[in-house]
Amino acid sequence: MTDNVKTSDWWRSATIYQIYPRSFADSNGDGLGDLPGITQRLPELESLFLDAIWLSPFFTSPQKDAGYDVADYCDVDPRFGTLGDFDDLLAESHRLGMRVLIDLVPNHTSDQHEWFTAAVAAGPGSEERTHYLFRDGKGATGELPPNNWLSVFGGSAWERLTAPDGTPEQWYLHIFDVSQPDLDWTSEWVREQFREILRFWLRRGVDGFRVDVAHGLAKKEGLPDFTPPADPSSVATVEYPYWAQPGVHEIYRDWHTVLQEFGPDRVLCAEAWVEPLSDLANWVRPDEMQQAFNFTFLEAKWSAPAIRTAIETSIEAFDAVGAVATWVLSNHDVLRHASRLGMNPPPPQGTGVGPRTEPKPDEALGLRRARAETLMMLALPGGAYLYQGEELGLPEDTEIPDSARQDPSFFRQHSPLHYGRDGCRVPIPWEADAPGYGFSPNGASWLPQPKSWARFARDQQPAPQEAHEYATNTHTLSLYRRALELRRINQFGLGTLTWLDGYGDDALAFTVEAIRTITVISNLGTKPLRLPAGKPLVFSERPWLDRPLDELPPNTTIWMTDAD
Ligand code: GLC
Repeated sequence: MTDNVKTSDWWRSATIYQIYPRSFADSNGDGLGDLPGITQRLPELESLFLDAIWLSPFFTSPQKDAGYDVADYCDVDPRFGTLGDFDDLLAESHRLGMRVLIDLVPNHTSDQHEWFTAAVAAGPGSEERTHYLFRDGKGATGELPPNNWLSVFGGSAWERLTAPDGTPEQWYLHIFDVSQPDLDWTSEWVREQFREILRFWLRRGVDGFRVDVAHGLAKKEGLPDFTPPADPSSVATVEYPYWAQPGVHEIYRDWHTVLQEFGPDRVLCAEAWVEPLSDLANWVRPDEMQQAFNFTFLEAKWSAPAIRTAIETSIEAFDAVGAVATWVLSNHDVLRHASRLGMNPPPPQGTGVGPRTEPKPDEALGLRRARAETLMMLALPGGAYLYQGEELGLPEDTEIPDSARQDPSFFRQHSPLHYGRDGCRVPIPWEADAPGYGFSPNGASWLPQPKSWARFARDQQPAPQEAHEYATNTHTLSLYRRALELRRINQFGLGTLTWLDGYGDDALAFTVEAIRTITVISNLGTKPLRLPAGKPLVFSERPWLDRPLDELPPNTTIWMTDAD
């Protein structure tokens, strides 16, 4: 591994690339990406100067929620390969200098996990039932759910069992799909299972875990009724009985000690949709996790004050607990930012965009803004996560027909404008002229790929041979390569940010002091912005050398440095 990945706190400035295995590369032509496919394509990521990859779930699963419904935490689903294939992937990734994080899904299992089938079979009152949240129903015959909680994917969060003789039985809680029963984390037995799952993968050599729904494991005692606020802006001020309950933290303190058994450089990253940021910072206290996705930054609207507040508050909140911020703009649950930023306003998270959405994202505007915000993000101190395909400039696929959709939230919402998350999960293009754009050997694809995606294929975005050629190269992939290279060389991730005022309300301007100090200016307004004289350009997301450097066009970011 390179020096950069040897240090124990490598994650403080790391760039981590999310691979969504089912949509990355399919080696056997079944239309679903797999582990050997990833291993074959890994060298093609080398030019992105990545410190690590994070793999979304590839474990044994009925795939009711794209693998976030795990039936065996310690094995690979045959659709994705074998444990041996995983070991090969890990070895190849380490050989290329990239650490590997895997996805741990502890809030719920699949309903086909043997713990759940055993609990169902053992019946009410059994020890096995204490591993999940089984409850008797309300009403004269238990015909009503135990409380009024709603599933994140739509409908009730409770499902009633039926005994083999046909009699209605107890209910179980599922905060997500009906196929994803919630575990009861007050159970010491459950806790012990997960310590062993962590050790199983750590022994194999993984470098850490992204922890799914890391704000959901502890439920408020008594499971009291709760109605979520209608106004999403008030979410931060409302206590949810199933989100961010204080009891989650002892679980992560416990896992922290498990990771320490394997050395100081293994990490946990929280997927916790928690606001305000000062609360989210509780997940990254010194004895808990190392990173937490910054969804406040991801969701900040396209406005200089909004983004500045998100950055400022993040740095302050994480710094207060000795942690660093972790920046992210896209993942497998949100609209790709190249489309999101072309909508005003974008639909709420999880809603998606599809054939009936009007107006559609402005693709050109969205991509310009996405490039500008990415370039801003890659200068920020802290860790950064990228989602496969964003380096190609991929937009959301907005044309998936209902008949091809797979996201369980699409099926549970029963609303013509709720499309769910499939649009950001479409298999990515590698070669413009190959079947399936090179995703699979025969063009098979679990979600249809848009006809227009050849232009985003990786082979259509060749890297410049000389650094100065970046100035005239407009490929999004070149932008990412060069920005990530400069981020690595100059260690911007370890830098110190100072805001610069005086550029007007539509600008975001700051310096980052690292090995080299750069000035970053983003123009989020609609008029060109005057640039400071005397500072040479380091890098911009537009070709520049052929024009004077006195104005920054709208929707553009520039990196400049003081004259030597
Ligand atoms: C997380 C995952 C999402 C999944 C959900 C339930 O939010 O990122 O894809 O559907 O958890 O596991």
